[in-house]
Amino acid sequence: MFETIFSIMLTIAMTLLWGIAGITAAGLPYSKTSRSLNQRSTFLLWVTGTALVLSAAWYGAITLQLIKDDWLFVEGTVKMLVPLTLLPQLYIVGAILPRLKSLRNSGEESPTPSLREAAAQPSILLSFFAAALASGISAFSTVFAQPVLPGLSQVAYRFLLVALLLLVPSIFANRRYLKVKRGKTLLRGLVARLLKFAFAGILMAMVAMALLVGNVLVGVQVSKLPETSDMMNHDWMDEGGGTATRMSGGSNHQHHAHHPPDSADSSQVEVASLTGDISQPADRTFELVAQRKELTLDSGAVVDAWTYNGEIAPELRVKQGEMIEVKLVNQDIDRGVTIHWHGYNVPNAMDGVPGMTQNVVKPGQSFTYKFRAEQEGTYWFHSHQQAAEQVVKGLFGTLIVEPKQETEVYDEEVTLINHRWETDQGYQKAFGNRDEFQWKQVKPGKTVKLRIINAHNLSEKYLLQGAEFQITSIDGMRIQDPQPLSDQTSFRLGSGGRYDVVFTMPHRPVFVKLGDAKNESNPGIIFYSESAPEKPVFQAESAEFDPSDYGKPVVNDVTAASQFDREFNMILGNEMGFYNGRFHFLWTINGEVYPRVPTFVVQEGDRVKTTFVNKSLGEHPMHLHGHHMTVLKKNGKKVVTPWLTDTLNVLQGESYEVAFIANNPGMWMDHCHNLDHAATGMTLHLMYDHVLPSYEVGTRSGNLPD
Ligand code: C2O
Ligand code: CU
Repeated sequence: MFETIFSIMLTIAMTLLWGIAGITAAGLPYSKTSRSLNQRSTFLLWVTGTALVLSAAWYGAITLQLIKDDWLFVEGTVKMLVPLTLLPQLYIVGAILPRLKSLRNSGEESPTPSLREAAAQPSILLSFFAAALASGISAFSTVFAQPVLPGLSQVAYRFLLVALLLLVPSIFANRRYLKVKRGKTLLRGLVARLLKFAFAGILMAMVAMALLVGNVLVGVQVSKLPETSDMMNHDWMDEGGGTATRMSGGSNHQHHAHHPPDSADSSQVEVASLTGDISQPADRTFELVAQRKELTLDSGAVVDAWTYNGEIAPELRVKQGEMIEVKLVNQDIDRGVTIHWHGYNVPNAMDGVPGMTQNVVKPGQSFTYKFRAEQEGTYWFHSHQQAAEQVVKGLFGTLIVEPKQETEVYDEEVTLINHRWETDQGYQKAFGNRDEFQWKQVKPGKTVKLRIINAHNLSEKYLLQGAEFQITSIDGMRIQDPQPLSDQTSFRLGSGGRYDVVFTMPHRPVFVKLGDAKNESNPGIIFYSESAPEKPVFQAESAEFDPSDYGKPVVNDVTAASQFDREFNMILGNEMGFYNGRFHFLWTINGEVYPRVPTFVVQEGDRVKTTFVNKSLGEHPMHLHGHHMTVLKKNGKKVVTPWLTDTLNVLQGESYEVAFIANNPGMWMDHCHNLDHAATGMTLHLMYDHVLPSYEVGTRSGNLPD
């Protein structure tokens, strides 16, 4: 963050200084006496010097960042903004500074014709204006159009932009130069001069306006989503630098981007057939009816909710190894619903993504999910149709899979799924429907297990004070030998993430809450043994839990791997732009939004590494369907304890290296779980190259996964 703010400040200061230099340079030929020419040139030399020092500081900051961070952090800046600013500045140093020096010629008499001609050289003011525009574009880009992996066209576009904007001043400067050369006098009056500057300024603004309008018109058109897509766009594919896959025609050495995959051979499978073995009868059956329901929170606030079974976060509780059948019925959710088992690695056809793994379930229709509950732990489920709206409104629940053999002993268990509700009284955070503190009596010495699930779009902090505790699972995956944490430690979950937290009840009360100690409007629980305290008491925490050094390191096929079959990068940025024809503040992956973010193509069995680099101005909980990722590195350094996650919250300025084995064939989503970000395109797909689509996404089918 610091580097970003520093860069923004420097580039803004550079813009101002180069702008002042440009205006001063434009005034040079008006100097009546040699002395005033001398003064102006001297002033210009000073301004130029200062601007050059600032820009050296900026290049220094970029170099520092390069040393400190990953190359991926600076690649865009180095490729796009550095050349753009360096070019005019080098020209100024090499060609303009010597000329300015020669203009410093003291004396009272008016400058000689040759001096006046030299002062009117268009290249002087144009190079200063070019430097100003380049710095301005750099400042703007750092905030609003982050240079993330820029292509040559984007670099060229910015050069062209500077050239076009210089058109007006270059016409003016040229005409004036010719006048001076012919020995004619220039307009002398200050007012006349100002008017001329203003006129040039208005013309420049008009050019800028025309460019902007052009940009908008193109952006609106280009960003429109297709009415239908089967997610098999061969133009936007990334094979992660590995061997050519079937998608690029690798298996029969065809390299035509538009060539369809080989005509179906026996090793190819359709998504719809990837159900896993569901021939056995179900051990457990459930029915979930998607329905609108008015619900009341503890505080009395009313939510116009969309629910499963008319409840807030209904629980499905099963035993590991059981065959589960869940019948989803849509009663009255107009756009249709699905169920996605968040973090649960079900076979692809059960993943609940409309248009990819099934058709959306419209009102009056139903769909039955069936899978074996292979993994134990704390999970949740939610609709994946227009998730940014449906999850927020309440279409979610919890999936608790009890292990075949419980190794953890606990006496009490509480599931805490936090959400932010839109109520008749404004936004309200709650655990389920409990938006106020609740009291729970527990005998001293008893063990309490909390299953905490963050169903909100943003990350949340949690406090547990009054007892030491252990974090025993992350995203449903057990931590081996979790050491006790002091009650002054807070912990944070990204959107969609889960922690299991265990503590032993002491004689004094234990307070649990969502959010900062100071924030009294957030919900929580008071555990007490004898007498119930009236109010919770919290202190500001002194540390935050860090999973990268906790318990025993996970050891698996990817932690042992020294090489990967495919390596992908996901550079997270932001940009002002268009999505589906509308203007948005966009959150981008590799500088693009869906559908232009390339699909990651893998082959079954591949060891796949992904690097997340967050250059953007926000946090992004990155969620991969169908697989757990093992975190290997954080900010370029190996983590002490690799851990498993399905939703990794990547903060601003952070980078992570994660890896997984491609062992669950299908088409999977890989997206930011801030569902608002996903809804404007912060999403991509992971595709196994032998899998064929069965459904289509888009308005034609009504399958709208984001
Ligand atoms: Cu919890 Cu793709 O989602
Ligand atoms: Cu995001």
